[in-house]
Amino acid sequence: MAYILGEREFWGLPFRVSPAVLVPRPDSETLIEAALALMPARTGPWRILDLGVGSGCLLLTLLREFPNARGVGIDASAEALEVARANADALGVGSRSTLLAGDWRQPAWAERLGGPFDLLVSNPPYIEAAAIDGLMPDVARFEPRLALDGGPDGLVAYRTIAAAAAGLVVPGGRVLVEAGDGQAAEISTFIRSAGFAVEAPWKDLGGIDRVVSATH
Ligand SMILES: C[S@@+](CC[C@H](N)C(=O)[O-])C[C@H]1O[C@@H](n2cnc3c(N)ncnc32)[C@H](O)[C@@H]1O
Repeated sequence: MAYILGEREFWGLPFRVSPAVLVPRPDSETLIEAALALMPARTGPWRILDLGVGSGCLLLTLLREFPNARGVGIDASAEALEVARANADALGVGSRSTLLAGDWRQPAWAERLGGPFDLLVSNPPYIEAAAIDGLMPDVARFEPRLALDGGPDGLVAYRTIAAAAAGLVVPGGRVLVEAGDGQAAEISTFIRSAGFAVEAPWKDLGGIDRVVSATH
């Protein structure tokens, strides 16, 4: 069982956290706001995919908001998946969640997810590798490196996700990905190149372009 460190509120819900997961951030609530605004049919039988599910804060909040939806979440960290499973059960959405070990650095990683999906969400690691040690000490020392390290330019995971997105999302379905400060334009380019219509990014409370939104 993962070592549960404490609890953090996200979208008004209690999420258990451990040293293996990113502590849910208020900025990430922007993605939930976007999903609710873009998908007003709350009772639709949506199929939702979360790449890099971590604590489960994105996927499980969406399953609470969309009561007939089902979700798949993957993570490369087995410990993070244990935390996500505990949260799914505690929040009463365990029976609608499938939480799988998966690593988008591996070949054919996207083929066993049981898609296609109506909504693909992700808050992938997006910090430039060389910048991690210079982050605020509580982030650099206590958050798992796997949750932070976005490769040399911070954008490695987005290229992989964009390349797979067309095969994972139904026509008319949506992609919502969280972006680091200053990354939204480049991420939009990757997703547009994958055949999606990209909309204006959603801003967080600090006015930063935080969520890239696109329709297939
Ligand atoms: C920035 S955290 C986001 C976690 C959670 N979705 C949230 O918003 O708080 C990124 C997550 O992606 C996972 N991850 C990193 N690289 C991965 C990979 N190659 N394949 C699958 N998951 C990965 C990490 O373990 C981590 O849980």
